[in-house]
Amino acid sequence: MSQTLKAIQPLKAVRGTRDLLPPETELWNHIDATARRVFARYNFGEIRTPIFEDTQLFARGVGEETDIVSKEMYTWEDKARAQSEKAQSLTLRPENTAGVVRACIEHKLGEQGLLQKLYYIGPQFRRERPQKGRYRQFFQIGAEVIGPPSAGSESPLRDAEVLEMLATLLDELGITGWRLLINSVGTPQDRPRYIATLRSALQPVVGQMCADCQRRAETNPLRVLDCKHPEDQPIIATLPRIWDSLDEESRAHFEQVCEALDACGVPYEHDHRLVRGLDYYTRTTFEFQHGGLGAQNALLGGGRYDGLSEAIGGPRAPGIGFAIGEDRLVLTLQAQAETARADRADAYIAPMGEARNAMALGLARELRAAGLRVELGDGSFRLKKSFEIADKLARKIAILGEDEAASRILTVKDFATGEQMKVPWAELKAHLLPH
Ligand code: HAM
Repeated sequence: MSQTLKAIQPLKAVRGTRDLLPPETELWNHIDATARRVFARYNFGEIRTPIFEDTQLFARGVGEETDIVSKEMYTWEDKARAQSEKAQSLTLRPENTAGVVRACIEHKLGEQGLLQKLYYIGPQFRRERPQKGRYRQFFQIGAEVIGPPSAGSESPLRDAEVLEMLATLLDELGITGWRLLINSVGTPQDRPRYIATLRSALQPVVGQMCADCQRRAETNPLRVLDCKHPEDQPIIATLPRIWDSLDEESRAHFEQVCEALDACGVPYEHDHRLVRGLDYYTRTTFEFQHGGLGAQNALLGGGRYDGLSEAIGGPRAPGIGFAIGEDRLVLTLQAQAETARADRADAYIAPMGEARNAMALGLARELRAAGLRVELGDGSFRLKKSFEIADKLARKIAILGEDEAASRILTVKDFATGEQMKVPWAELKAHLLPH
């Protein structure tokens, strides 16, 4: 009996989510281990909070009007399982600061009057339009310093210490070319004053701005400062700065953060437009950016949230923290490794035994004539030594031993992928060309 077999479409990972496979997972583990090591030196301990929380936590903590809460959360109604139970609105965490502060309140961690220094590593979820460096499930490495004011939680020294720790972590990971941007968004009293000033400054010019800015000017004028449209930039440059709406205390706090950074040699820029998209921020806000990331150039972001604990029903417990986008850290390290490799010779030819030297020189001549950049080893070198030198100088090594000379098929290893293959002499040129 013949049966028509319907092809079953293989299922794929959901849009905006990714599988992380070896060997890339090694890099992720290396980053996690480096972060844990650095955080331990600053006396941070690890906290693990649930991946979903009561929706109210984010509504109250992050802010009902923010993009995250108003349109990016994965929320569902968890039905009652028994008559005595009530249905509950739950949300996959879009960020972890609110969860950490909730846990501090729930476990009364501040009760002994000490600062809590907690770090976390884990997935977060936002329904954003996926693109390079922006995913719907992404990973953050974050840390929070929080506690009663009597423990020094409001001190500008805490801000500077957190920023200095981040500079140390990025340096230890080998990230080069990062920029630290800092700003102050003031107190909850300063902000409405600034928003009112901004609204009136926008009124006569907003008609000439992009559609997004026209909408933001109505709903959330601070977001106008994030606009990347080149035509809007000259207008944004003329808008009033939040600095002019800050009270004396906020200004003095910011200046002390800057002084402490100067004293420990961490470079930074004061970016008046850095207001950030979460409502809980007060005073210091910051971002570390990296040019290699394209549009999604924020490697990490953070700031102070002196009123968050009270906003979710806890005692007064000012805090400061950050979250690194681990996906973006991985992209940056991969791009750096690629650039470093692009700087190397196309191939290193390793003759095995001095009897192969002449043939190796002939091969090098042929490849160089074809425009390839070639390093030539020496037959007196052992295989291990040839590999060590080649790994520093070239993207690939071509081994010319007795068998290879006889068969005219060379063994070639690609250092970037670790792949090793047999390549006939005639195909070497094409194989060694950079892609
Ligand atoms: P955030 O700026 O929303 O802050 O996120 C921090 C970092 O997470 C961003 O700079 C970026 O690297 C990464 N990130 C955010 N969204 C995505 C995405 N869709 N795909 C990939 N990476 C992403 C917070 O989450 C705050 N909780 C940080 C904080 C901690 N503030 C104080 N304490």
